Amino acid sequence: MRRFRRLRAGERIRSLVRETRIDKGDLIYPIFIAEGENIKKPVDSMPNVYQYSLDRADEILKEIENSGIAGLLIFGIPKHKDELATSAYDDNGVTQNAIRYIKKNYPSLLIIADVCLCEYTSHGHCGVVCGHEILNDETLPLLSKMAVSLAKAGADIIAPSDMMDGRVSAIRNALDENGLINTPIMSYSAKFASGYYSPFRDAAESAPEFGDRKSYQMDYANGKEALREIADDIDEGADMVMVKPALAYLDIVKAASERFDLPLVAYNVSGEYAMVKAAAEKGWIDEKKIVCENMIAIKRAGADIIITYHALDVAKWIDEFY
Ligand code: PBG
Ligand code: ZN
Repeated sequence: MRRFRRLRAGERIRSLVRETRIDKGDLIYPIFIAEGENIKKPVDSMPNVYQYSLDRADEILKEIENSGIAGLLIFGIPKHKDELATSAYDDNGVTQNAIRYIKKNYPSLLIIADVCLCEYTSHGHCGVVCGHEILNDETLPLLSKMAVSLAKAGADIIAPSDMMDGRVSAIRNALDENGLINTPIMSYSAKFASGYYSPFRDAAESAPEFGDRKSYQMDYANGKEALREIADDIDEGADMVMVKPALAYLDIVKAASERFDLPLVAYNVSGEYAMVKAAAEKGWIDEKKIVCENMIAIKRAGADIIITYHALDVAKWIDEFY
């Protein structure tokens, strides 16, 4: 008889034959920095996630530094929003100032800067709007300016999440022209128009005022198109590619990991986090077990890097579980 159970007899041998592991160095934690003073504002739909003003951010930054994870993904929340998202590419904007501060005081952390206009536009869309249309080509120069401004402020990695066509090459050219040839681009390549982002839009105050994001983010029914999006971003010069959300899209993660050889990122998004936290708060699931299982599932599918609001918890639990 084939006795599979021989290799399951105890934790030592299970650990010896384990196929998938997580390293703290694979994890990225998203943070929300709001313009202003003395802010630590809870995000209702995301337990234990807060908006911080920079003067109160040391609390979370120290925790990230001590956790041993790779770094953070930064989202800024400006006071001033307008049609053209001017705060997004203001060298003294909330995100630029936060990046400079983190770079100076926490030099060991990798700073990944999300590049998108939706937190900065009055209408909440990710691009320039004309009537009810979201304009592609008119948006590219603004994204490029934003990327250059964030990289100059000290961002280690530029992560465009807007889903305009051609933005990776536009941003690459702009970075290169400004001498930022060594700043990598982590592209949100296969980003689906997903209901799983709604808690994030509370956190980042970035919900669209009209319509939805379906004319630029992907239809969640499409798997082959996701691979075309990724291939195209690689052609345009992306250094890392992403699938987002993660758990309902592990088929895409798997296919992408088999087809492409660039570092592959999965974003375990706000709604995925909120569901786990809500069920755990009710005592219906064991948070630790579920989160560790989810993280391993994402890596087993082929992700190299995970962006997750659970990152600081996982860093604590990692030694216990794997
Ligand atoms: C901005 C952006 C979004 C997320 C990351 N960058 C929201 C959106 O596209 O509406 C979602 C992250 C999450 O849900 O955790 N474009
Ligand atoms: Zn956006």
